[in-house]
Amino acid sequence: MTEDKFQPVLAEIEAFARSAEDLASLQRFIVALIPSRLPYYNWTGFYMLDPEDPNTLVLGPFHGAPTTHVRIPVTEGICGAAVAQGETVIVDDVNADPRYLACSIETRSEIVVPIRANGKIIGEIDIDSHDLSAFREEDRTFLERCAEIVRAFVERS
Ligand code: SME
Repeated sequence: MTEDKFQPVLAEIEAFARSAEDLASLQRFIVALIPSRLPYYNWTGFYMLDPEDPNTLVLGPFHGAPTTHVRIPVTEGICGAAVAQGETVIVDDVNADPRYLACSIETRSEIVVPIRANGKIIGEIDIDSHDLSAFREEDRTFLERCAEIVRAFVERS
């Protein structure tokens, strides 16, 4: 697949971000839109660092099966690893990664992309797929652009 499938999705997110009322409505738009266009994105959600406890991620808007992982210490999970490393983490086979915190037994691969604003990580976008090795460099580029749109929105809010 080419990057073409991502471009219209990014354009829609950018357009929505120009008039979104607040961060939560932008996040809700993103988690509804992305899985409707990219069927292998089986769980799509935001985790944001708790302003009261910046060592803990808190579940935000998501699309997919409910998860018990509503608060994740930054020392745990693939989600924590992305914050600790300060970079995107792609796991081709979650069952082979001891860091993985299971949400659904159907999940096979995961990508987590940090979101920065004003020079600091404020949260992340987390995607699970039922397919092994679902996420490629083009998904990383796409999701890092989504994180950029969120950063720009937060910084001008
Ligand atoms: N798998 C994540 C936990 C969150 S669920 O995927 C929604 C992790 O290992 O951090």
